[in-house]
Amino acid sequence: MQTDKPGQGKTQEQLVDQYSRTISYLRLSITDRCNLRCLYCMPPKGIDSSSFVKCLDLLSYEELLRVVTIAVGMGMNKLRLTGGEPLVRNGVMGFISSLARLKGLEDVRLTTNGVLLHEKAAELYGAGIRNLNISLDSMKPQRFQEITGADMFDQVWQGIQTACDLGFNVKLNVVAMRGINDDEFADFARLAAHRAIQVRFIEFMPIGNKESWDKSRFISANELMGMISTLGTMEPEGYRRPGVAGTMDGAGATAPGSQMEGPARVYRLTLPDGQSGRVGFISPISHHFCDKCNRLRLTSEGRLRACLLHDNETDLKAMLRQGGTDYDIRTAIQQTILSKPKGHTLQDDLATSGQVNCHGRMSRIGG
Ligand code: 5AD
Ligand code: SF4
Repeated sequence: MQTDKPGQGKTQEQLVDQYSRTISYLRLSITDRCNLRCLYCMPPKGIDSSSFVKCLDLLSYEELLRVVTIAVGMGMNKLRLTGGEPLVRNGVMGFISSLARLKGLEDVRLTTNGVLLHEKAAELYGAGIRNLNISLDSMKPQRFQEITGADMFDQVWQGIQTACDLGFNVKLNVVAMRGINDDEFADFARLAAHRAIQVRFIEFMPIGNKESWDKSRFISANELMGMISTLGTMEPEGYRRPGVAGTMDGAGATAPGSQMEGPARVYRLTLPDGQSGRVGFISPISHHFCDKCNRLRLTSEGRLRACLLHDNETDLKAMLRQGGTDYDIRTAIQQTILSKPKGHTLQDDLATSGQVNCHGRMSRIGG
């Protein structure tokens, strides 16, 4: 039986953490399984199926819906489904449709590797999804295979085209890796200018499969911005200096008015041919965006996590399966919000000990 206690009606203020950030965004990793084996995510020798979370240890859709309903009741209004690859979990469409019916949940988004997108895009659109982040680190089929372990570039590309044709708002996530895909950044930026796709370059983080990370592979957002700005003119989105064709206000600076979209600093790139598009830079290492962080994560086995880069977690699954009331769950969410650290020290940790404070598999935590 679920009993309840006073306080249920209070919203929003329950979501403010110790550092005055309002935590309104929940990321759900609905499975740690994936149909790709990206070199930075999965172990180099592959992963055998016994290492994945057992089906019974994943939160069921009913359990997930209960947690989301409680979080939305507290005032959270944005949700992202991640994984692993969320589209490999059976029944995901029905789950998304149930989420779409939740009053107060304004926005449900999805991060996918695109492998199943061609097949599922229309259904996703029908279920109410409008925003897709698609991970794509190379547009060269052979290299795509080297990075992901699968000869599936054409399939993913077809999925991206289908999503664009259906009218999804598409963002491509490109993990920037020196010596691996840095010769393609210009092509990705041109893609953003020629198609209605925002391309976001992400600093390579030493988490997930850490053996694949090496300082020499890391490219900072400053350097990335410098590379992309040589292609044309770049000005912060939402900021137009009167009478001045866009130039960049110094690589690395968050230019006045530069639009922060979640963790990305977004710019409008205009090419010499007059075409323009949006490029974003996500710099978890060089410029953390911790002071603006508004998110909580629920791992695929039902552990609530206040920060991607801190291993503290609260076991919501145990609570859900041992008769926890809605009040208990709400209190756990609130406590997790209050435990949210001010920020991470990834850059300093790497400089001193070379260690980072995130040992969970990325596919379990959900990126
Ligand atoms: N560094 C940077 N980005 C990563 N992602 C996964 N692992 C890493 C890493 N080590 C990205 C994926 C996906 C997003 C959820 O996180 O490419 O786009
Ligand atoms: Fe799958 Fe994403 Fe990990 Fe690649 S990064 S193996 S697509 S979960």
